[in-house]
Amino acid sequence: MQCSKHVQVSWLVLVVTWRMEIVQSALCDTLTPLGFEVYPFKIGWYNAVLSSSLRLPYSEDTLAVVVLSTPSMFERVFRPFLKSGSCVGVNDPIDQCIRHCITSCVSQCFPDQEVNISYDYEMLPSRKPKFLAQTAAHVAGAAYYYQRKDITVDYWGEKKMFGVCIHPKLGGWFAIRALLVFPGVVVGEELQQRPPPDCVPSQESRVELLERFNLCWQDGTYRDIFPPAERYSQEQQTYFSTPPGQRMALLRQWGLFSVAGNGTKAKEPRSEGGNTES
Ligand SMILES: *[C@@H]1O[C@H](CO)[C@@H](O)[C@H](O)[C@H]1NC(C)=O
Ligand SMILES: *[C@@H]1O[C@H](CO)[C@@H](O)[C@H](O)[C@H]1NC(C)=O
Repeated sequence: MQCSKHVQVSWLVLVVTWRMEIVQSALCDTLTPLGFEVYPFKIGWYNAVLSSSLRLPYSEDTLAVVVLSTPSMFERVFRPFLKSGSCVGVNDPIDQCIRHCITSCVSQCFPDQEVNISYDYEMLPSRKPKFLAQTAAHVAGAAYYYQRKDITVDYWGEKKMFGVCIHPKLGGWFAIRALLVFPGVVVGEELQQRPPPDCVPSQESRVELLERFNLCWQDGTYRDIFPPAERYSQEQQTYFSTPPGQRMALLRQWGLFSVAGNGTKAKEPRSEGGNTES
C-alpha cells in the first residue's frame, strides 16, 4: 500500500477520520522505508469470518493494522540490526529485529495511545496463535488467502491442505509479521472494506498453488505462482532455508553476529502454515 498523504475530510466525522488517518500515515511513514507494508482494517471485518473462540475482544469499529514484511526488509533493517549488535543470543534474530522496529515505531508515533501488539510467532497458553495472520491479511485487502474452499472440485480427500496468502505484487515473497490494535481509535465510514486482489483467479492455478505450498513448501516455488515484482535476495533465501537452530552459526559465518551462544531456541511449528517465515 502506498503512503497516502491525501486526507479526506468530512465535517461530520472530522475527529474520527483525522485520527484513523493520522495513525495510518504515521505507521506508513515510519515502517514503509524499513521494508514493511501496513494495512488498516476494522476488528469487525476479522471477527465476522471467525468462530467465537477465535474472535478478538474489541468492539467491531476498533482500528487494527496488519504489518507485512517485503523482500527489502532483510537488507534495510535486518542487516543493520545485526551489525549494530542489538541482537542478543536467545530468541530468533528476525523476530527480535521485527519486534524492535515495531515497538520503536509505536512508542515514537503513539506515546500516549494504547496499542496492543501481537506478533505472528506469539502463542496463547492454549497453543493457538494470538491472531490468525492470513485471515487478517485477507480481510484488510492486503493479500488474498487461498484456501481449499476456493477450489470447486475436491482433489485431496482426507489430506489436510493448508491455505496460503498471495500478495498481488510480491506473490509469496513476503511475510505477515504483526497485528496492531488501537482500542482507543474508532473507525467510521472513512474506511471501507475492499477485497484483496484475486491474483490467482483460475481453478488450475489455485490447485497448483495449494499443491506447491503443501507438498513442496521448502522449495519456495509457490512464491512464484506468477512472476513477482521482487524476490528475496540470494542471501535472504539462504537464511530462511537454513533450519532455525543453525541460523546463528550462519550469521556468524557471514560476520553479522558475534555474540557467543548456541543459537536459537527451536521454534514451534506454526499451525497456520506459511506466510510467516518460521
Ligand atoms: C491491551 O493492552 C492493555 C495494556 O497493555 C492490556 O491491559 C489489555 O489487556 C490488552 N487487551 C487485550 C485484548 O489483549
Ligand atoms: C552450548 O551448549 C552446551 C551444552 O548444551 C554447553 O555446554 C556450552 O557451554 C554452550 N556453549 C555456549 C557458547 O553457550
